[in-house]
Amino acid sequence: MTRKLNIIPAGCFIFLAAFLCFANSRPGKRVSFNQDWRFQLGDVSDGQDTSLNDSQWRRLDLPHDWSIEGEFSEKAPSGTGGGALPGGVGWYRKTFTVPLTAKGKSIFIEFDGVYRNSEVWINSHYLGKRPYGYSSFVYELTSHLIYGGGPNIIAVKVDNSQQPNSRWYSGSGIYRNVWLTTLDPVHIEHWGTYVTTPEVSSESATVVIQARVQNGSKTPVNLTTIIEDANGRDLTRSTENGVRATVSQTLKVSAPVLWSDERPYLYKVVSQLDQGGKIVDRYETPLGIRTFKFDVEKGFFLNGKSLKIRGVCNHHDLGSLGAAVNTRAIERQLEMLKAMGVNGIRTSHNPPAPELLDLTDRMGFIVMDEAFDVWKIQKTKYDYHLDWDEWHKRDLEDMVLRDRNHPSIFIWSIGNEVMEQWNNNPAGGTITKELTAIVRNLDRTRPITSATNGVSRDNKVIMEGDLDLVGTNYHHAQLPEFAKMFPGRAIIGAETNSSLHTRGSYAMPSDEIRRWPRKEEDILKLSPTYECSAYDNSTAPWGSAHEEQWKLVKNNAFFSGMYIWTGWDYIGEPTPFPWPAVSSYFGIIDLAGFPKDPFYFYQSEWTNTPVLHVFPHWNWKAGETIDVVAYYNNADEVELFLNDRSQGTKRKQGDDMHVFWRLKFEPGVLKAVSRKNGQVVLTREVRTAAQASQIVLIPDRKTIKADGVDLSFVTVKIVDRYGTLVPLADNLVRFEVSGDGAIAGVDNGNQISHESFKGKQRKAFHGMALVIVQSKQKPGRIYLKATADNLASASVVINAR
Ligand code: GAL
Repeated sequence: MTRKLNIIPAGCFIFLAAFLCFANSRPGKRVSFNQDWRFQLGDVSDGQDTSLNDSQWRRLDLPHDWSIEGEFSEKAPSGTGGGALPGGVGWYRKTFTVPLTAKGKSIFIEFDGVYRNSEVWINSHYLGKRPYGYSSFVYELTSHLIYGGGPNIIAVKVDNSQQPNSRWYSGSGIYRNVWLTTLDPVHIEHWGTYVTTPEVSSESATVVIQARVQNGSKTPVNLTTIIEDANGRDLTRSTENGVRATVSQTLKVSAPVLWSDERPYLYKVVSQLDQGGKIVDRYETPLGIRTFKFDVEKGFFLNGKSLKIRGVCNHHDLGSLGAAVNTRAIERQLEMLKAMGVNGIRTSHNPPAPELLDLTDRMGFIVMDEAFDVWKIQKTKYDYHLDWDEWHKRDLEDMVLRDRNHPSIFIWSIGNEVMEQWNNNPAGGTITKELTAIVRNLDRTRPITSATNGVSRDNKVIMEGDLDLVGTNYHHAQLPEFAKMFPGRAIIGAETNSSLHTRGSYAMPSDEIRRWPRKEEDILKLSPTYECSAYDNSTAPWGSAHEEQWKLVKNNAFFSGMYIWTGWDYIGEPTPFPWPAVSSYFGIIDLAGFPKDPFYFYQSEWTNTPVLHVFPHWNWKAGETIDVVAYYNNADEVELFLNDRSQGTKRKQGDDMHVFWRLKFEPGVLKAVSRKNGQVVLTREVRTAAQASQIVLIPDRKTIKADGVDLSFVTVKIVDRYGTLVPLADNLVRFEVSGDGAIAGVDNGNQISHESFKGKQRKAFHGMALVIVQSKQKPGRIYLKATADNLASASVVINAR
């Protein structure tokens, strides 16, 4: 049922998307409250005061991250760990009206996340504070609103001034979505359903739905629960009359289609409240039916079948968009990871944006939902340890209450490498026990882990903490021993690898792994250019190369799988380098979204997509010795030709996962041919590029939604006159956008670039750059032009519909 909106934010258009079932959705009654806010950077005295004149404040739409708009500085208190970008204090205000007809309704404002220390006022009345920047929270506005005319003013103070408070880039501000929900006083409570499937077989699934009903009225209310299939057809329903408080209903789905990473089939549970036949609330909850277990000897099983978790860890920033949530940007990340063969995501090290979990439900990822990076003992001076005592119970409960209906969540993680894990600290055991009890009180359908780096029997988090699943980080050399170390326990690689790569950079020999030294001067001696090799031969001192790690995981059945550190590069933590490096090297995909070579390694191992990836580029000095590597699958062998002369045919031997040739460089064409049973499967060429001569623009989508939110990610390539990428090109490219769109961000994946992410120009890095184009709320055409000195320019048209 859709109801007419009765709240009109002043001067703003409300966009109502026809979503698939998203968690906690309430079509028609929960609307975006993102538009037309006022923002002021810096503290304001009495910023909550309704009489304050904010007409000179900047006008913007949420989600918003002010840090990403700032300048990189060596002196930034966040440090390079936090991305060397500014924090500070900011104020947001929004003026809106509420019609008289809304009187008698219950009205709520929901914040998906504000980084950090948010304080909220409605019409000068204080609603409350939330220190943790990753928690979602709600305030009721009902009794403080002015109905009919108004105006009403919401004011939000955000304080991210105490730095450092994070080991990675956090962003600052109301960086996630805000919602306004208008309900009858009789309604399903916020996060008010809990759906479980205690019995699942191929014949039927038992679905238990608990709903918390708010009924302050004297009239009895009836709850009808309906299960719909993925096409919206009613499968079954059940009604309970005269309900109050919590109701539990049990329904059956016959011959259920199971949710899996390969086929993420979603049902929908609709909880409908009526009073005397009039429907007063309709609340939708996604439902995925699946069984799984973590077996001590055989690892993870999904729907009865053994499955390795091939996961990645990611932080929440979206590259040049900063922390500001954008559903398409998250979807693009997940699409690329799917194409690589990834089937798992760890939301390191905090509860993610709800949109991420809606997408993982729909796209089929096995998610580890993580609560904290620190408990009581600090990692950085002003981090969450300061809020621990007062807030940890509430924040953990809120994560589980918000997220427990997502079928894509399979594991709760209560912490990452918390300091309590070291030195036999008894708090490791006691806090773990406290946290597991908090989680179990709200959900017993998923195992609880804590990601631990102290992979030893001295670690009280593991040994005394009452965890269901041992979560190991790193220590790959001991991996085969983990089963003996923790007999009778199921084990997951909560974090692995920490390989380091710069896209397009190669250090030879390719078959010698560089574990980076810990001392700065040694690091800079090894790489004065602040680059790490993309040959899969470069790792953090504690890390492992992709191939060596995957072999271990593949060959040890007890090990349920791994979450690689990381899928994408992120802002901050530029290990192993100091300033001027400001973003990470760990990603398999760079910050701009361009795959580094190991992407194809995984694609060849983890998918059936035919792969033949040959690298590096072919622009070297005459006579230099160059290692040419090929990742391939679906074939027996690869033959390599240099300027039509065969350099030999190679087959992977033993448990090899690639082949390589060591050649003397001469300019020309490298050609690789993969064959199966003598038949050609794929052919790839790598050519020596001539001088840079033109720009090429390749949008990921040429038609986007005209909703003011949707994005087209446009790859910029510098090519020679034959169209070959110029691998070392670093031309400065300028962008002009006209028509019905704007530039949302620019990037190139270079970890030491200090160019603005919000600029209108970007240098190419290893021949490539990215410009992100965003629609306006108007259908039409978006014209993008790219120019650079001495290069032919390029243009592209993107349609906004
Ligand atoms: C881990 C940590 C991650 C990240 C990583 C870098 O120890 O859990 O957050 O810092 O190291 O290698």
